[in-house]
Amino acid sequence: MAARLIDGRLMAADIKAEVRRGAEELLRSRGITPGLAFILVGDDPGSEVYVRSKGKACEELHFRSVTERRPATIAEAELLEMIAGFNADPAIHGILVQLPLPPHIDEQRVIEAIDFRKDVDGFHPVNVGKLVLGLKCLRPCTPAGVLELLARSGNDPGGKHAVVVGRSNIVGKPVCNMLMQKRPGANAAVTIVHTGVKDIAPLVRQADIVVAAMGRPRSITGAMLKPGCVVIDVGMNRIPDPTARNGTRLVGDVDFASAVEVASAITPVPGGVGLMTIAMLMKNTLQAAAGDAGS
Ligand code: GUN
Repeated sequence: MAARLIDGRLMAADIKAEVRRGAEELLRSRGITPGLAFILVGDDPGSEVYVRSKGKACEELHFRSVTERRPATIAEAELLEMIAGFNADPAIHGILVQLPLPPHIDEQRVIEAIDFRKDVDGFHPVNVGKLVLGLKCLRPCTPAGVLELLARSGNDPGGKHAVVVGRSNIVGKPVCNMLMQKRPGANAAVTIVHTGVKDIAPLVRQADIVVAAMGRPRSITGAMLKPGCVVIDVGMNRIPDPTARNGTRLVGDVDFASAVEVASAITPVPGGVGLMTIAMLMKNTLQAAAGDAGS
């Protein structure tokens, strides 16, 4: 029997509608329009696509948005100065520096230069620390989107065993921390597996929920899954496809064709987690604009 599809498109649209209502209320009650600043360094085509779709979401929700594009040769000091300007700007509530940055720039220094109350990516060490402690903070968008997908599809992780594949700072580590928190929508037993684990298959096969976030195309197959498990595929891999118009195709970290036959529910790529990331970014920006980003 084929798994049920978890429709990220539909859920992202619901979240954006909720954010739009929240923003209208914030404008009515306190005269605040959420403002988001994007900083894009270099001309990575993937980053350009991300930033464009984020800008479009701002337009849809009537948020203010500013995009600063700079060449890959920008000096770190200039980037830090730009961030300081946005930190001091009361019309800007969220600052997003698109990653990766060119190798001559210290990514961590850049992240730490952002006022943590405007860190809508949830990458600042203050937000990372608060997330681990279970305190109110701005939460990373993709992991927050994973938890929303589980909750909204009726797959409460409470008491379940979630196996997270991948330990990146952007997805693997934060999604682990979120899933294990003692609160509704989380409260799972969590295992994290990564490239240091010789054979991940026996561990993945124990999972009620699999979160695939290691950035390797189609590497979690149906044979590695426990029948009836829920699969959340965070992967966004562009692979060559001569039949496609632009010669490439987007695939996840999960081999969809085999996994769909074993799982009870699965997110497609595209149309799954990716759209949730942007919806959660808008939600974080509203939270920051409302002054509700922790202190
Ligand atoms: N690059 C890939 N994913 C992300 C993300 O979530 N935020 C930022 N700023 N850059 C990214």
